[in-house]
Amino acid sequence: MAGVAGEFLTFDDVVIVPGLAPVEPGLVDVSGRVSVGRPLSVPLVSSPMDTVTGWRLAALLARAGALGVIHRNMSVEEQVGEVRRVKGAVPSIWFEVPKISPEEPFLMAKLRIEEVGAGAGVVLDRGGFHGVILLPGADASLWAGKAEAVRLLFETVKPMPTIDEEGRLAVGAAVSPFDIRRARELERAGADVLVVDVAHLHNANALSALRRLVKDVSVDVVAGNLGTREGVLDTLAKAEGVAGLRVGISSGSICSTGEVAGAAVPTLQAVLNARSALEELGLHGRVPIVADGGVRNPGDAAKALIAGASAVMGGRIFAGTEEAAAPKVRVGGRVYKPYRGMASRGAMEARYAADRYSKPSKAIEEGVEGLVPYRGSALAVVAEYASGLQAALGYAGASSVPEAWARGRLARVTPVGVREVRPHDVVLG
Ligand code: XMP
Repeated sequence: MAGVAGEFLTFDDVVIVPGLAPVEPGLVDVSGRVSVGRPLSVPLVSSPMDTVTGWRLAALLARAGALGVIHRNMSVEEQVGEVRRVKGAVPSIWFEVPKISPEEPFLMAKLRIEEVGAGAGVVLDRGGFHGVILLPGADASLWAGKAEAVRLLFETVKPMPTIDEEGRLAVGAAVSPFDIRRARELERAGADVLVVDVAHLHNANALSALRRLVKDVSVDVVAGNLGTREGVLDTLAKAEGVAGLRVGISSGSICSTGEVAGAAVPTLQAVLNARSALEELGLHGRVPIVADGGVRNPGDAAKALIAGASAVMGGRIFAGTEEAAAPKVRVGGRVYKPYRGMASRGAMEARYAADRYSKPSKAIEEGVEGLVPYRGSALAVVAEYASGLQAALGYAGASSVPEAWARGRLARVTPVGVREVRPHDVVLG
């Protein structure tokens, strides 16, 4: 009988050990990196999933200092079109919610807000934020939320848009390692990062294909998904030049791999494993780790960063937003957005219909389809994570992500203790 490999830690198994904070949380630098050549003001990356990342979410995230990865459940031409739309978009957060000076006459401000299709503007001068102009008829909760998110972002991390060398918004695009034509077309269209999108990259065929892919394109390739130290070592040995590692197996909110196939490396453990492999090679901090799947709040994201990641990828946290790729649906008077795993039946059928070159590698579904509550703009998610990460890294005694790797500590809590470190014994409103 094979031995048991040991114990795998999940986000809920650990807490951040408070350490001496060198600065106030507002001064913590949360910037990270998705790949060797692509820094991010806010270390958040949206998952390449067909209910999550199309050009709208990708453009918004890049304007706010994060990054979107366009999904690949479409033809090469369509995916190239999505990348081009991001590249042609205005590279400033003030396109989302225009900046108004206190002296500007209302009618002028109104015209400028309408011109970019916004429903609100923020009134701002050197002294800071004065307030919000909400246009009559605009969806008040959506636009007030966007304006508030911009205020919060500027009062905390002051994000720089994620841009390329020509000043255009940066964008990632998902590829199969076997689809060189798609990768080349996406590179030509200006994609800044190609994110390999296979459930189990640690596979002889997939690694050979990855090796060819990395040689064939000059753009950064983030390879995944991986979960073990051996997986990372084999990937880096086989495909030299990989510019990032996407890690986590079966922690995603819509994943059923752990159930269907019994295989999993929870995201926190996958980060720890990848870090150990990179440290062995002297590459930790040089080749970024992207922690993918299962992140539910800024605390989980902070644990992943402290464990050794440089960025966090999320699907569910963005799936309910206005800018996510799926349309809103109403059920019983409430508003939701569909969210489904890319290995769910619906997503796989859509893939084979959209891309006649893609072919099934497995007969079984490894994802579920569901709904998540609608939650307004993704800008609010970015703002929440930016300030939440500042607070969490502050607790960890760090003023930046690299400092969190060096000085941050995680400690295990008992399964019973997990209940105590959450809100408890009150009725939550
Ligand atoms: P969250 O928890 O952010 O997870 O919703 C998103 C991540 O889940 C992965 N993913 C899948 N995993 N079956 C799986 O086992 C699927 O159908 C599936 N679809 C997405 C992916 O890594 C994504 O970023």
